[in-house]
Amino acid sequence: MSERSKKVNKFRFELTCNHGICLRTILYTIMKLNLDIACPSPPAWIEAVMNDFDTFLQDHADCERKASATAMSFVAKYPDRLEIIPELIETAVEELEHFQQVYAIMEKRGIQLAHSIPKDPYIIGLMQLCHSGIKERFLDRLLIASVVETRGAERFKLVADAQTEEEMARFYKMLWISEAKHGHIYVKMALNYFDEQKVYDRLAYWVKHEGNLIQSIPIRPRLH
Ligand SMILES: [Fe+2]
Ligand SMILES: [Fe+2]
Repeated sequence: MSERSKKVNKFRFELTCNHGICLRTILYTIMKLNLDIACPSPPAWIEAVMNDFDTFLQDHADCERKASATAMSFVAKYPDRLEIIPELIETAVEELEHFQQVYAIMEKRGIQLAHSIPKDPYIIGLMQLCHSGIKERFLDRLLIASVVETRGAERFKLVADAQTEEEMARFYKMLWISEAKHGHIYVKMALNYFDEQKVYDRLAYWVKHEGNLIQSIPIRPRLH
């Protein structure tokens, strides 16, 4: 673990001990400022979402379920990476809670989960850009998870700002903060195993390609 990661963990531990989850969330939000997106979502995207919010909710629920499965797939694929397993499990649980919360909103509105889940060109497009080799692929998978979470955060903020109901605005604001935290966590996990220069150079690669990819996907009332 790098000196920087050790310092961050120590700070995080002290905050958790002294002040609980609240300050920990604030800390993650501050740290998130180190993560970027190359291409902000256009106004047409939030318009499409707000014009067909039921469809968006169905896709959103799927995305939360898949985010939980992604975190657990790291646990299954890399059982020897002991340093990151507790945080992966915690992330998987948080994503499943998000799924539960989105599904509760859907139930209230009488919306069912989607019967068929179409392939996601966004995730497929990102996976196609992975480098070869077991270690390189491990780094890529962590950083893809990071840029996907960061995009989620950016878009949930737009959804929060567009809400007219206070409860829904609060819910999407909570998600925005949580996904931003996840965007940071996956980079922090990579820093356990690769030096900082390599991690941030590779992150720049993924931020750039994610930006190109998201622009190439037609605008739909979906998260991606
Ligand atoms: Fe989530
Ligand atoms: Fe997330």
